Amino acid sequence: MDEAALQSALSNPQNLGEMPDADAVGTVGSPDCGDMVRMWLKYKEKDGRRVIDKASFQSFGCQTAIAVASLATELIRGKTREEALEMSASELSAPLGPLPPMKIHCGQMVEGALKAALEAEAGQVSSATPAVAPVPVGPTLADALNASGKTAGRIRIVLEPPTGQ
Ligand code: FES
Repeated sequence: MDEAALQSALSNPQNLGEMPDADAVGTVGSPDCGDMVRMWLKYKEKDGRRVIDKASFQSFGCQTAIAVASLATELIRGKTREEALEMSASELSAPLGPLPPMKIHCGQMVEGALKAALEAEAGQVSSATPAVAPVPVGPTLADALNASGKTAGRIRIVLEPPTGQ
């Protein structure tokens, strides 16, 4: 993994925070470590195509998950739902280089949150990423976390307002 790219992504994470006017939201938790990611999507019409206008995320997760989520929210801008669905965890984390074996599930969790949001918008239940478990959407990620029986004491909490506010 490219540590410099990781630190760069962490020093200025993009699109961190809730998106109140989102068209779709997806949340997943990792059974491996108890971390969670929630992703919001907003679409727009461009040149006759419906594309992702912007995406944001919250993470109760490790630094790798935060870095991948930050990169992913930038990479999927301008893509259609179908194009975004085709993106794998390794594509979403490509700027970080290959993830070490213990960190592969971090990228998969971000991919799972993205797919959950993409499929939630279509009224479907995500089953695309067996490495992660979809979590019922609650009012906040903390609510979802509490509902899942995890305690906030053993995980990292990242809650910040959306970029630009
Ligand atoms: Fe579990 Fe990174 S998401 S260690």
